[in-house]
Amino acid sequence: PKVVLAGIQPTGSPHLGNYFGFIEPWLDIQKNEASDVPLYLSIVDQHAISMGPIIPAEKLRLNTRKMAASLIACGIDPKRTTLFRQSDVPEISQMNWILGSLQTLAQLQRLPQFKDKSTKFSRGSIPIGLLIYPLLQAADVFTFKGTHVPVGEDQSQHMNLMNNLAFAFNSTYKLEFFPLPKQITRQAHARIRSLRDPRQKMSKSDPSVRGRIDVDDSEAVVMEKCRKAMSDTITTVSYDKSNRPAISNMIEILAATTRRSLDETISLSSTWTHTELKDNLTTAINRLLGPIRERLNYYEQRPQELEEILAENGVRARMAAKKVLLETRELVGLC
Ligand code: TYM
Repeated sequence: PKVVLAGIQPTGSPHLGNYFGFIEPWLDIQKNEASDVPLYLSIVDQHAISMGPIIPAEKLRLNTRKMAASLIACGIDPKRTTLFRQSDVPEISQMNWILGSLQTLAQLQRLPQFKDKSTKFSRGSIPIGLLIYPLLQAADVFTFKGTHVPVGEDQSQHMNLMNNLAFAFNSTYKLEFFPLPKQITRQAHARIRSLRDPRQKMSKSDPSVRGRIDVDDSEAVVMEKCRKAMSDTITTVSYDKSNRPAISNMIEILAATTRRSLDETISLSSTWTHTELKDNLTTAINRLLGPIRERLNYYEQRPQELEEILAENGVRARMAAKKVLLETRELVGLC
């Protein structure tokens, strides 16, 4: 049976990369999937401490709540989508431990995300959490026997590892026990790049906030970030990913935001100046974000209502998780 599952880090507000790479495809799934297909969306607060305890507890709590509010404001319906806090389902952590016995250290150390992020630490101080981050991600999916995982392009390596793990578990304990999870990545907008450095993806870990637009940015901030976005020295507007990555990225974001095709957007913008491109981008983004900001505002004033939604959804998620964990423990001999 089909089970759709994904996760997002509690970074507070999602940015446009999260929106186009993940949230919008999720909204399509929510609309189009048959009503008996379970949809689980985890706000992965345990992943958020994988770089060490660098976020104060109260801030992490707030960020988790704000991410929940933002997702709902973007259109995720907590009656249809089981939107839950990862740490509310301790079964995931137990699954994580079981998977650890099938995972080699070498494979984890080879992952590009680990290599990249571990350079931020001195040699002796890399937290284990960073290393086993992808293991917990696999546990997120396996605890619900997830079959389909909608993610942006940057998650491909994690998906690969997950598939290897499912295969390893099944070969050891029971053939076809865990479905091999399918990565669902929409072709268009699978990788939105930074407005300040188009070689990088748009990311929350970018130290410059000007590289990304968050869904809760005010109209003025959106305008400011678009105006200051990197461009190049050619005065016209044209699409050329290798020679004009910054302009091309803006054209792509404009296409995504207006829901026009890339081709249409390229021809539309071909007579524009850089300023006109940036102005059009500003208008389009503000039109998209306007209603989202309003709904976000509604929930920010009602933290109690949000907590109730998360608690209820957490119970729903946990019921499903308990069942799979029990079967898994039996196979391994843990009960
Ligand atoms: P996270 O929180 O970094 O991002 C959430 C989702 O947004 C996508 N995304 C992007 N898509 C296009 N362009 C970008 N610039 C961009 N930046 C982010 C991500 O691909 C992701 O789909 N490890 C995951 C969270 C996770 C998870 C899971 C995902 C934990 N457990 C289980 C799926 C299944 C992460 O850090 O996503």
